[in-house]
Amino acid sequence: MRRVLSGIQPTGQLHLGNYLGAVRNWAKMQHDTDAFFCIVDLHSITIPQEPGAIGRESLRLAQMLIAAGLDPEVCTLFVQSHVREHTECSWLLECTASFGELSRMAQFKDKSDRQEFISAGLFTYPALQAADILLYDTNDVPVGADQRQHIELTRDIAERFNYRYGETFVLPAAVIPSAGARVMDLQRPTDKMSKSLDSPKGTIDLLDQPDQIEKKIRSAVTDNDGEVRFDVSNKPGVSNLLSILGAATDKDPEELASEYSQYGPLKADAAAAVVELLAPLQARFAELEADPAETTRLLATGAAKARSIAAATLTRAKSNIGFLPDS
Ligand code: TYM
Repeated sequence: MRRVLSGIQPTGQLHLGNYLGAVRNWAKMQHDTDAFFCIVDLHSITIPQEPGAIGRESLRLAQMLIAAGLDPEVCTLFVQSHVREHTECSWLLECTASFGELSRMAQFKDKSDRQEFISAGLFTYPALQAADILLYDTNDVPVGADQRQHIELTRDIAERFNYRYGETFVLPAAVIPSAGARVMDLQRPTDKMSKSLDSPKGTIDLLDQPDQIEKKIRSAVTDNDGEVRFDVSNKPGVSNLLSILGAATDKDPEELASEYSQYGPLKADAAAAVVELLAPLQARFAELEADPAETTRLLATGAAKARSIAAATLTRAKSNIGFLPDS
């Protein structure tokens, strides 16, 4: 069975982009792969956090992920900071990645442009992400299109490490969905939908109620030519609505375009499809929220399983480098 691993940051609400670009595919893949999903809380502190918030947000994200279809009896769901091997392995990989490679990461450029205080961790973030992946001998990494560059870097780091110290890490590949890989902001359709962008009207949170979803989609930015056509460069707003409707209903956005002659009905159908898609998830989340102890227990089981695999890989990596054994 192929080993799958992916990660998601616990800060901010889970949004439609996270769901269509990543989480929905994780739920599908868990049944025929050996799948690991990691709540990457250590990544979230690359940006300062309010003390105490991160633990609550990690628990909430775990509940959202389970509500969205991850079954901790089928896959391994765990919190990154519960498995110490991630930080230790990250150091080995920071020393394998080059300054130039890390400087070229688009996510770093984008996030550092928006921060007053740029932490060293924000810069070395991709080495920690590489540790997340490489510790589990991962074959496939299901992610949205924005993560492709990080997965390619992970491969390069693994190759370089193997070349320097002998065969240690499995080389992973990104798995990017054909629909929903890049959901755009509804107000600024040339930017991806994101929890960090200051655009609540442009982002559909997975817990948004039907009237909020309808309002956000009704006021989505389109254009003035009035023609419904799938053309991402010239008609980003309309194309985003077609992509969302297509991803929510498993239809091809280009074919969907021919069914509409006006923006109004397209928006109404996209909103209805998103409301229908999210309703079961929201109902399940409410149940899980009422019983936090159960999710905490499931996360502890997940961490124990993750730790046993991560520890073996880290021992192999350290031994291949040739550190003096501690016993
Ligand atoms: P994060 O937390 O920003 O996003 C989690 C997942 O959601 C996808 N995604 C999107 N997909 C489509 N359209 C969008 N607008 C959109 N926004 C987000 C992301 O591609 C991602 O798959 N660095 C990662 C977290 C990470 C990770 C890992 C991922 C840490 N370690 C190991 C894979 C493997 C991140 O910040 O994702």
